[in-house]
Amino acid sequence: MLPQLEELKLKALHELGDISNTEELESWRIRYLGRKSNLTEILRSLTILPLSERKAVGARANEVKSYLEENLSQKKEDLKKELEKQPLRVDEALLARGDITLPGRSLPMGRLHPITQTLYEICDIFVSMGFQVVEGPEVEWDYYNFEALNIPKEHPARDTMSTSWVDFQTDSGERPMLLRTHTTSVSARIIETTQPPIRVVAPGKVYRYEASDATHVSMFHQIDGQVVDEGITMADLKGTLYEFARRFFGEDRKVRFRCDYFPFVEPGIEMAIECAVCGGEGCRLCSNTGWIEILGAGMTHPQVLERGGINPKVYTGFAFGIGIDRLPMLRYGIDDVRLFYGSDLRFLRQF
Ligand code: DAH
Repeated sequence: MLPQLEELKLKALHELGDISNTEELESWRIRYLGRKSNLTEILRSLTILPLSERKAVGARANEVKSYLEENLSQKKEDLKKELEKQPLRVDEALLARGDITLPGRSLPMGRLHPITQTLYEICDIFVSMGFQVVEGPEVEWDYYNFEALNIPKEHPARDTMSTSWVDFQTDSGERPMLLRTHTTSVSARIIETTQPPIRVVAPGKVYRYEASDATHVSMFHQIDGQVVDEGITMADLKGTLYEFARRFFGEDRKVRFRCDYFPFVEPGIEMAIECAVCGGEGCRLCSNTGWIEILGAGMTHPQVLERGGINPKVYTGFAFGIGIDRLPMLRYGIDDVRLFYGSDLRFLRQF
């Protein structure tokens, strides 16, 4: 019986060496270690052997059994490592990762805030007319927000722009830092650093120290425009703003220009569009006037150009400032500006 065991062991090892997949390995296990294998049979028949033989054969058969079992688990390990090295075939990939033919689960998509969308849309319109988009700081010097724009210290125009001052004092006790009250401050910076031709729009956030209600919030958005070149006239101003209104509000919307006052332009004007709710008849939204004011504008004041190092005898310019927040309100009939800043997704998801 002992030589038979040796032969069996050698044969099993030899065959094991040739095995290259788990299916073959399983049939090898059944053949050499299974319930019906020769080895199991030998172990079972020990009882009928004479006592003298029983001990030696039993010991050796058990040795061979454990030896084959060890080799089996080693081979299993080897095959597993081998498999991990190989790229998965498509059908295996299917089994491992689930059914790749199923439609994917949709991820929740974010979107741009309606104010941001409006801002981009307006920038696009001006870019298509040859303007460049520029940006400036929201924490600003008194100089660019006021002084450079013809609004000196005691000027009453300062009162109309309730200002949030930054708690920063110079050695001489002045507080020259603030949250910009309009994006015209960016135009002042551009005039100072650029020689004509200038054709820029400056979008961004602005701040006013005010209580909020349906039409006021302490942070809102503006886009300021500035054009400086030789021979710029009021006709250029009107043509540009008329074209903007036509593209943003539609071909048929009437616009109206009237005189207004801003310290940094001369003459100054305001532009209004026909009320979309009543079609000019007069309603609550337009305070029964039929018109809604959407921007201030004017010919850049010669002193503003001069202060920025541009010769007003050679160059002239026009400027305009549009309040952004009102535009989507007008377009979609929103009656409370605070909705934009309330983070209520039920509201925001509509845009
Ligand atoms: N900065 C002004 C405001 O916030 C709006 C404005 C009016 C801007 C006339 C301009 C302008 O550039 O020319 O009320």
